[in-house]
Amino acid sequence: MDKLIIEGARKLHGEIRISGAKNAALPLIAATLLTPGWHVIHNVPDLRDTRTILALLESLGAVWKRKGDALTINTETVNNLEASYDLVKTMRASILVLGPLVARMGKARVSLPGGCAIGARPIDFHLQGLTKMGARLDLEDGYVNAFVDNYLSGAHIYFDVPSVTGTENILMASVLAKGITVIKNAAREPEVGNLVDMLIAMGADIEGKDTDRLIIHGVKSLKPAEVTTIPDRIETGTYLVAVGAAGGEATLTNCNPNHLPALTEKLRAAGLIIKESESSIFVSRPSKVQSIDIKTLPYPGFPTDLQAQLMVLMTVSNGLSVITETIFENRFMHVAELKRMGAEIRINGNSAIVKGIKQLKGAQVMATDLRASASLVVAGLAAKGVTEISRIYHLERGYEDMVGKLRALGARVHKEKE
Ligand code: UD1
Repeated sequence: MDKLIIEGARKLHGEIRISGAKNAALPLIAATLLTPGWHVIHNVPDLRDTRTILALLESLGAVWKRKGDALTINTETVNNLEASYDLVKTMRASILVLGPLVARMGKARVSLPGGCAIGARPIDFHLQGLTKMGARLDLEDGYVNAFVDNYLSGAHIYFDVPSVTGTENILMASVLAKGITVIKNAAREPEVGNLVDMLIAMGADIEGKDTDRLIIHGVKSLKPAEVTTIPDRIETGTYLVAVGAAGGEATLTNCNPNHLPALTEKLRAAGLIIKESESSIFVSRPSKVQSIDIKTLPYPGFPTDLQAQLMVLMTVSNGLSVITETIFENRFMHVAELKRMGAEIRINGNSAIVKGIKQLKGAQVMATDLRASASLVVAGLAAKGVTEISRIYHLERGYEDMVGKLRALGARVHKEKE
C-alpha cells in the first residue's frame, strides 16, 4: 500500500486542469448497457472507480478501449447478467448497472454494494422504485435478483430524500419502460443532468432536467450516443479549499463554476477572493481565513463531499465554526485524524464545532474514506512540518493525478511504499 508524504506550510501557486467528474462518468458508463452498440464518452477521468466499473462492464461481456480521456464502449456483446461481489464490494456505485440491465435484458443479479464507510447507505429507494415499475426482486446470499415478466411499466416514484444514484438508476430503468414514469423529489445534482443529456442523446424522452420532478415517457428503443462528462465539481472544490488553507493563488481550468454555487459563496464569506469565468476559477487568500458555518444539503446546497475539506479550512480560521452534516450520519471520521494534527474540534450530534488555531502541525494520519482522505491532504498542505497519510488508495478512487496536480501548484508531495 502507498502512503503520501507532504511537506506543508508552503503557499500554492499555479494553474491546473480539472478532470471529468467521477460521479458523472460512472452513471454514463453504466448507461451504455441500455442499448447494444458502440458508445463514446469524452472527458472520463482515469481513476480506480472508473476502472472498477469498466471491469464490471467487461465481466458482463462489454468491450472497451481508452484513448486519452475518451472511452469507447461496445455493449453489443453483453451476455452475462451477474455483477459479482468481488467487483461490487469495492464501489457502491456498481449498483448503477441494475437499472439498465433490468431495462434491456429483463433480468439481473447484482451483489449488494460496499464502498465508503460513511453511514448505513441503504439502496431501498432503488429497489422500491424498480418494484413499483413491475420488477420482481428478491435478496439472496447478498445479491439482488431482479426479473421482469413482460416489460417494466411507468410508475410514480417518490423519494423520501433525494438520492443521487437512486434517481440515476430509476431514470435508466424508466427510459425503456412502457408508459410514463414520474420521479418526485429527484436529486438535482449536475451529475444527474449529465445522465439526462446522455439518455436524451440516446433517444430517450425526458422532461424536467435539473428539477426535482423528472417525467420520463418510455420509448421502444434507444441508440448509442457520444457524450462528454461534466467537470468534477468536488475535485474543483477540493483544490479551491486547499489554496484557502495553505495560502497562495491558483487558477483551475476546465471546470464549471456554476456547479459550485454554495461553495464559492461560502469561500467568499471566509475571506477568499474567487473570480469565475465560463470554465475557470481563480482563487487567492489575501488574509486570515474568517470562520463561517456550513450545513450540508442536497444540491444546490453545500455538498457533503466537500464537508471534510471545508472543515480543514475552518481549523485555521479566526474564530468558531459550526459544521452540520445532514446527508450521512457517520461522516466525521476525519475529525480524530485532524485532532492529531492539532485541530480543535468537538463533535455534538451531527455538528462539529471547530475552533480556529494559528497553524496545524504535520503528523502521521490515516485515511478512512475518499473525501476524508482529501481533507487530510488539504490539512497536510497547510500544516507546519511533515504529514504522512497512509492508505491513500481511497484518494486514487476519486482524484486523477493528485500528486502531479499538487506539484504543479508548487506543493512538496510524493508517494512512498508503506
Ligand atoms: C452519491 C455520490 C456521493 C455523495 C452522495 C450525496 C455517486 C457515485 N456518489 O452517493 O459521492 O456523497 O451522492 O451527495 O454519485 N438513501 C436512502 N435509501 C436509498 C438511497 C439513499 O435512505 O436507497 C439516503 C442515504 O443514506 C443518504 C441520502 O439518501 O442519507 C442521500 O444518499 P444518495 O444521494 O443516495 O447517495 P449516493 O447516491 O450513494
